[in-house]
Amino acid sequence: MKIIRSPKTMTAWSHRLRREGVTIGFVPTMGALHDGHRALIRAARLKCDALVVSIFVNPTQFGPTEDLSKYPRPITKDRALCRQEGVDICFEPTAATMYPEGFQTVVTVPDLARRWEGAIRPHHFAGVATVVTKLFGMVRPDLALFGQKDFQQAALVRRLIEDLNLGVTLIVHPTVREQDGLAMSSRNVYLSPEERAVAPVLFKSLQAGAGGIRGGVTEGAGIQSIMTETLRQHSDAAIDYLAVCDPQTLEPLPAVTSQAVLLGAVRVGTVRLIDNMLVSVPAKKKR
Ligand code: PAF
Repeated sequence: MKIIRSPKTMTAWSHRLRREGVTIGFVPTMGALHDGHRALIRAARLKCDALVVSIFVNPTQFGPTEDLSKYPRPITKDRALCRQEGVDICFEPTAATMYPEGFQTVVTVPDLARRWEGAIRPHHFAGVATVVTKLFGMVRPDLALFGQKDFQQAALVRRLIEDLNLGVTLIVHPTVREQDGLAMSSRNVYLSPEERAVAPVLFKSLQAGAGGIRGGVTEGAGIQSIMTETLRQHSDAAIDYLAVCDPQTLEPLPAVTSQAVLLGAVRVGTVRLIDNMLVSVPAKKKR
């Protein structure tokens, strides 16, 4: 496995690979790799000739009071996982080379970034959209894999690829969960044992909401109450949002007629958990 730190070197490699007709697969990450990333890397490995994984804790997507400085950075372990999974290039740029003096371009996807994570973390998605655009420019991937766990991020990247004609095929990989349903996340390491025991409550709430839809509840507000009540029954986690939305626009749905995405974010102690669930109204119940 080759480790590349310089964006210029990465760009030179990807140009060479593309000239040779090699298909490039890309998994962008912020490191602290877990089995969720492993699943993305494995899925990507099967679909391309050359596989690039980037590890870059992107400062511009963190707010001033967020966990940038304490974000886990176990680079030796991360590289070992990449080696095990047959990654060809581990791209590890630095903040100084990604954002050199004079840098000023910002990519925004305003409508998809407005609600949910974007409302709570105002500059987050501009940071994500900008860094993803830059990484795509350097890696020049044919296909890129993102996890469904960050549903809003994946929706935004899909829009970005289309709007800017980036020519990248986006593959959204299903969320990988612990046995008790907790979505895998690099931030789960912050949970104390007591908080970890409570953390699957978000998944339970989403499951309850999905059960409501499958059982014939149509009103968005009714489904939202089911999720809130389930959460309240099992924990005193603080709710940032539990919402019933259109999977494409992420706008709240007053009524579910065919497909919905249930989006949730809660705080267990000081740890923020996000998760989501796509639900289809059963064919015979379609309204
Ligand atoms: O999902 C993440 O890990 C990050 O938001 C990403 C896509 C690597 C951009 O920094």
